[in-house]
Amino acid sequence: MPEALPLEYEIPLQATAGRRGPIGSPILYFSEIGSTNDEAARLADQGAPEGTTVVAAAQTAGRGRFGRTWFSPPGAGLYVSVVLRNRRAAPLLTLAGGVAVAEGIRTATALPVEIKWPNDIVLDSGLGRRRKVAGILAEASTNLDRVQHVVLGIGINVRESAYPADIADSATSLEGELGREVDPGSVLAECLAALATWLRDLAAGDSSAVLNRWIELAPSASGTRVEWNTAGGLRTGVTAGIAADGALVVRTRDDVEHIRSGPVRWL
Ligand code: BTN
Repeated sequence: MPEALPLEYEIPLQATAGRRGPIGSPILYFSEIGSTNDEAARLADQGAPEGTTVVAAAQTAGRGRFGRTWFSPPGAGLYVSVVLRNRRAAPLLTLAGGVAVAEGIRTATALPVEIKWPNDIVLDSGLGRRRKVAGILAEASTNLDRVQHVVLGIGINVRESAYPADIADSATSLEGELGREVDPGSVLAECLAALATWLRDLAAGDSSAVLNRWIELAPSASGTRVEWNTAGGLRTGVTAGIAADGALVVRTRDDVEHIRSGPVRWL
């Protein structure tokens, strides 16, 4: 059962109500849940409207891309999922989600986070070292190839935690980077407000603004060496922006590849 929304969320959400459109209304809060994405999908299947948002203080089965676990201990992060229904916006929701979270974190904390394709939110600590502070998992439900809804799941590491060994070197948190306390309610409210802005553009058929903003926020999407696995073996190349469908464009020695899914390693 959802619980009362803590005041630390309630106040900044009220302050941004005029900029959030339908995003974050209603908002359902759980002190602990399996996965906010599962709860949002269940609500969407029951007809929950565009913008319905699920927030939890902890997840016992938080998941990331490629079936990975999303480390979600109590009080350490923001674990949020938003129900989206606009079919025009659906193809670029993953990128729009990355832009919104990067902008929300920048507005609320002034940390100069960047996007790493497709939608990892990272801090570049120089020499090619990027530590991840947030991730986005968009999960679509389709019927006869028509998108019924998309659940946009957002995980943000707010407080420092004892990260599991497999992510200890690559994960960081807002407070760890800033060396001071961060108000999670403001981060949540600014991310949702930014999401509302970009969704309006996508719903109106304007995808170029989102793509351009994504490129501005993702310097590693141009001129960075990457490698990835294919059925034919390991490939390497240099990033050369993104295509109109959000694919990562990579120049190899003798070709130009469009990568649409699968892990890419940044060298
Ligand atoms: C990734 O970078 O792999 C995506 C991580 C997405 C994690 C969030 S936390 C809220 C929502 N619920 C989940 O189970 N996953 C997403």
